[in-house]
Amino acid sequence: MRVVVLTGAGISAESGVPTFRDSDGLWEGHRAEDVATPEAFEYQPAVVQRFYDARRAALADVEPNPAHLALARLERALGDDLLVVTQNVDDLHERAGSQHVLHMHGELLSALCVGCRARSRWTEDLGDHPPCPRCGSAELRPDIVWFGEVPYQMDRIVAALQRCDLFVSIGTSGAVYPAAGFVQSAVTYGARTLELNLLPSEGSHFFDESRRGPAGVLVPAWVDELLTTVR
Ligand code: OAD
Ligand code: ZN
Repeated sequence: MRVVVLTGAGISAESGVPTFRDSDGLWEGHRAEDVATPEAFEYQPAVVQRFYDARRAALADVEPNPAHLALARLERALGDDLLVVTQNVDDLHERAGSQHVLHMHGELLSALCVGCRARSRWTEDLGDHPPCPRCGSAELRPDIVWFGEVPYQMDRIVAALQRCDLFVSIGTSGAVYPAAGFVQSAVTYGARTLELNLLPSEGSHFFDESRRGPAGVLVPAWVDELLTTVR
């Protein structure tokens, strides 16, 4: 049984990481175009750096929740047959113990050098122009895939979707492509599809089954269920 899980901001909501499009979400206080595009970084780099510096610093105050822990437990049972593809830029899957995680939208704990393109693990602020560990130039930006940029690891993700038997989407609104289209790819390649989300998403109707509720409850229950059937 090969499983691909796609996660979005909803899986980290119960940990205290704000989502984007919910009423108290990040895009309520900011226009996405003002902080999450290459143009924003060109015209107001300090604002963009402050936004991501604050989100990076906030990671120190959050912990994985039962949904992240359940996916790590599933990985211990399925090994290489589980791949977690996340749109999230936090490190909560890794802190919960997951090892096969692809961050398609980048990571807060990484810095990307505009000069030499090196990606370096980063825990401090970027707003005060630190030098790149590789080339020394002071041109580090958040290693986040902004609107208009190409997500990371698409080759590996598409290959995993082609091979999987089950595709599960957790805590994502289905508003941002290409992630929003993974369910249709999975269906085309013959996988069963399941959605676990608090509210109906834009793509709910594409799934074989959709369950409504908080990820902290739905994900552990689904993992228990799957482990009894694959054992
Ligand atoms: P959104 O904020 O668009 O959607 C979050 C989804 O999670 C919504 O459908 C909520 O109903 C659901 N949700 C909220 N709390 C939940 C809970 N406790 N349990 C389960 N579900 C819950 O976030 P994403 O879909 O992740 O991109 O957004 C996709 C991308 O848009 C992000 O990766 C980000 C953003 O612009 C970049 O920054 C590049
Ligand atoms: Zn560099």
